[in-house]
Amino acid sequence: MNDVMQTGLVSPTQPAGLPQLSVIVPTFNERDNVTTLFRRLERALAGIPFEVVFVDDNSPDGTWQVVRALSREDGRVRCIRRIGRRGLSGACIEGILASSAPCAAVIDADLQHDETQLPKMLAALQSGEFDLVVGSRYIEGGSADSFNRQRAGASALATEVAKRALRVQVADPMSGFFMISRECFEQLAPQLSTQGFKILLDVVATAHGDLRVKEIPYTFGSRLHGESKLDSMVALDFLGLVLAKLTHDVVSLRFLLFAMVGSLGLVVHLVALYAALKLFGFRFAEAQACGALCAMTSNFILNNFLTYRDQRLKGFAVLRGLVLFYLVCSVGLFANVGVAFSVYDQQPIWWLAGAAGALMGVVWNYAMSGLFVWRKR
Ligand code: GDD
Ligand code: MN
Repeated sequence: MNDVMQTGLVSPTQPAGLPQLSVIVPTFNERDNVTTLFRRLERALAGIPFEVVFVDDNSPDGTWQVVRALSREDGRVRCIRRIGRRGLSGACIEGILASSAPCAAVIDADLQHDETQLPKMLAALQSGEFDLVVGSRYIEGGSADSFNRQRAGASALATEVAKRALRVQVADPMSGFFMISRECFEQLAPQLSTQGFKILLDVVATAHGDLRVKEIPYTFGSRLHGESKLDSMVALDFLGLVLAKLTHDVVSLRFLLFAMVGSLGLVVHLVALYAALKLFGFRFAEAQACGALCAMTSNFILNNFLTYRDQRLKGFAVLRGLVLFYLVCSVGLFANVGVAFSVYDQQPIWWLAGAAGALMGVVWNYAMSGLFVWRKR
């Protein structure tokens, strides 16, 4: 990283007319905002050769169609239409990697970020003194008045946690508005998480303080049209990122959630077993099967809403997924019992054998569910 920082950003051989700045705009259901944003970018960046790459996750409102039409009128506009995928961070990463200017900016489509700051940010990068320029709400001159109290509190808390846990020095690491040198970004890209919202925090944490950062104040405005895609699950994404960075990507939040859901499944199992035995008078074998079925079903539903919410199965795919999940878990049960038996064979300690079997089961179920039930398209 250090050698990158010594080099100037704009190569003197950059032919005139080639973009000096790539502006990346992640979009999901922003059809009414994209044209206005592009017009404002044109105005703000007058005289600077730039390109705009919209990365749209196949928005149901047809945002990509509007962008496609724009790009037929103006060669500086491009549209990446991603199918079967969701996620702000992943969209930004793909957009930056698909662009070519020596500097890349990320800006929201809904006009909450202040595009008139872009020339100032570009000048800071081009001076060669900085690798990253952050549009910051939390330094003198910046603000986020459009936030309601709840959102403001959550944002402040997350910022504090990030600063302490990941030793991040930036005042506003949750900002979605920043500009980075291509060289630095290309180096960091392979280690960045494509899940979640917090791409800037990821960039800063992954660089381990190696980036020379400048923060520029701006006022976080109100959304023009449409609604925010951030929901309460963003908190989970955030925790996941902190966890992954703290453990050097050893512990994934997905696995933890999967294991947690699995533990809850044990409770469901016992309750259902009890009910089947005592309330419905089933025989033990039937009652046990009934408990297992209830546990697998509730695990499937919880995993679909929580663990794999970004790849949530819908409609007919839910049924197919449920059947596959039953199959995966049934094989997992054999793996569980098999391992427990062989451990018990060597060391007849019941809890050690039991725990080893359970661990085997959850690892198996996790790996196979990822491959077959919630597989990436
Ligand atoms: N491609 C793609 N895929 N784009 C997405 C997705 C997605 O899954 N989810 C959101 N976007 C786009 C939106 O269309 C918008 O252009 C931008 O990402 C920001 O999403 P918003 O839904 O407007 O987020 P926000 O305004 O609540 O949050 C913003 O401010 C936060 C600062 O508190 C974002 O910039 C956050 O990253 C930022 O942390
Ligand atoms: Mn927004």
